[in-house]
Amino acid sequence: MSKNRNVLVTNRLPAAVEARLDAEFSPKRGANGGSMTREEILEGAKETPCLLISPAVRFDREMIFALPASVKAVATVSVGFDHIDLEAARERGLIVTNTPDVLTDSTADIALVLMLSAARRTGEAERQVRAGKWGGYTPASSIMGIEVSGKKLGIYGMGRIGQALATRARALNMEIHYAGRRRLPPEQEQGAIYHPDLSGFLGEIDFLSLHCPSTAETYHWLDAAKIAQMKPSAIVINTARGAVLDDAALIAALKEGRLYAAGLDVFENEPNINPGYLELENVVLLPHIGSATTETRNAVCFKALDNLAAVFAGQEPPDRIA
Ligand code: DGY
Repeated sequence: MSKNRNVLVTNRLPAAVEARLDAEFSPKRGANGGSMTREEILEGAKETPCLLISPAVRFDREMIFALPASVKAVATVSVGFDHIDLEAARERGLIVTNTPDVLTDSTADIALVLMLSAARRTGEAERQVRAGKWGGYTPASSIMGIEVSGKKLGIYGMGRIGQALATRARALNMEIHYAGRRRLPPEQEQGAIYHPDLSGFLGEIDFLSLHCPSTAETYHWLDAAKIAQMKPSAIVINTARGAVLDDAALIAALKEGRLYAAGLDVFENEPNINPGYLELENVVLLPHIGSATTETRNAVCFKALDNLAAVFAGQEPPDRIA
């Protein structure tokens, strides 16, 4: 295979992916092998046609138009593309690809983990054991959670990941409710109850799991007004993107008992999360690990490489979004 396939690799990648990169492409990596800064990317991209990027660096309009003329395509190792200004990319004539489908199951798993963890207070429980504060079994445990089975799960954004979470939740005998832009056909709905009216939806459910994309329309979608329509016993889960909820409103509600708990894997301004979360016991915090299994991260990165291979072959990349 011809190796004149120069790719700037802006992040460290799993070992199997690095091996395929070395075998099939001519990768250029950051000096320390870690994540490259904006400035390092712009410098490293000189005379390079393709970039392999991640959500760690924002490809906003300024960045896109600052890219050297040599850059023809950018492949992100993520299904989410809120870090890329697609409109600017189209104007600049830049090909952009993402990685749909391959992380559906692992992300739905993490949403389920967060639901169970937040409801059963496993974070607090583990902290108690590690701190040597567990006094032994007692029927009136200091860590009493709430039951998940039989409860109503509300999914906002019933796409691939939302539907995969619904499949898992059905095994827990949960009743599935959903809201979003459109009602699904019956074969995808699988008995889930669609709510065209948001206040009816928010007032009925025991768990709210967010699965909408992060766009200008969904910015701080879950805000103080919507939280006020939810039950005080409800639990909020976010594995989508941090910007779809208003941190200040969620923190205030968790602090004041206007929500029971939350489970979050994504945050606005990652990794600099709102410090208010760190003071709360009733929130489970994960460091954006929705797709972090070896199998899934390999599949995600291989998909991005397939897209770049198509670009080098002069073909339409399968997952082109701009
Ligand atoms: C994705 O692929 O969008 C994951 O959230 C990782 O960013």
